[in-house]
Amino acid sequence: MIPEPILGLADARRELADFLRGADALLVTGARSFAACGARDALAGPLRAAVRLRTATHAGDLLSLEELDATFDRLRDAAPERIVAVGGGAILDTAKILALAFATGRTPGELAAGVPADIAPPPVFAFPTTAGSGAEATHFAVAYKECVKKSIGHLRVRPARAALVPEFTYTLSSYQTACTGFDAVSQAIESLWARGATDESRAFARRAIGLLGGLDKAVSDPDPATREAMQLGAYWSGRAIDISKTTAAHALSYLLTARHGVPHGHAVAMVFPYVAACNLAHLRDPELSSLCERFDPRRIPGLVPLPDFCRACGLDFSALAADLLASVDPARLANNPASLSPNLFG
Ligand SMILES: [Fe+2]
Repeated sequence: MIPEPILGLADARRELADFLRGADALLVTGARSFAACGARDALAGPLRAAVRLRTATHAGDLLSLEELDATFDRLRDAAPERIVAVGGGAILDTAKILALAFATGRTPGELAAGVPADIAPPPVFAFPTTAGSGAEATHFAVAYKECVKKSIGHLRVRPARAALVPEFTYTLSSYQTACTGFDAVSQAIESLWARGATDESRAFARRAIGLLGGLDKAVSDPDPATREAMQLGAYWSGRAIDISKTTAAHALSYLLTARHGVPHGHAVAMVFPYVAACNLAHLRDPELSSLCERFDPRRIPGLVPLPDFCRACGLDFSALAADLLASVDPARLANNPASLSPNLFG
């Protein structure tokens, strides 16, 4: 049974102190976001409950196996009993992968080839500071090796606790809100049409979509209620893909992040309309048609569409489209309801 997320700072502080009391712990944070979002000051008290607290940081959207290997090498002797992660998806993924590395003695690079079944990783307490990836609710993590996306996961590395503190998302820029918010929307819609969907994952995805309806407001004129709903919506989108996994929109996006530095949610937004057109033509499902229309990322300020991005960067659209189609993970494509045509991008 997966516990419900902890809601609000007061309960989160109390639970964190209980989680860390007397433990040898590792704190994984964003290099700058930890202080900038207010989490450093807000969590300083409960973090002192640990008897020993080592730290690791990561900056940016792109998490490389080389960086993770170096971080693990530096901390190899730490053997933390507890891990706290405060940040966006890449930070939470760092914590999960390090937990697996400590549990197995294998480097993150080695874990990309496979994770042993019978392991007991140190529990992770996740504080997402975006709304967002839903990584606080999933049992897998994404890292890159030379522009190739690797998924590393294990059922026991899903964060043991997740705390949603909307105040930590108040300093997100409009662009960060658009990127991370659309990531959550796409995950929920992809979860609905995924071949791996179940009744439970569809219920979680619909719950997410109901909460993420304020994305436009969160981008243009956020208020506390909208920020709170977005963070909870992102959590439920994570719960949905934790079961169903993502599909072609995510699979096609990774190269845009790895090679061209496009933030994850924006990269998903760039390819989403093409995947949606393909899947909707195949499925002819009124609910999904309505959702894709309602959340069309081309209408969200800041989420520059793929053709415009190519023009701005001097990239050939057809060549990039061919590269994206050639880059996809066949396992992830197998989870898409329709097969992708070589003419997907027109
Ligand atoms: Fe995502």
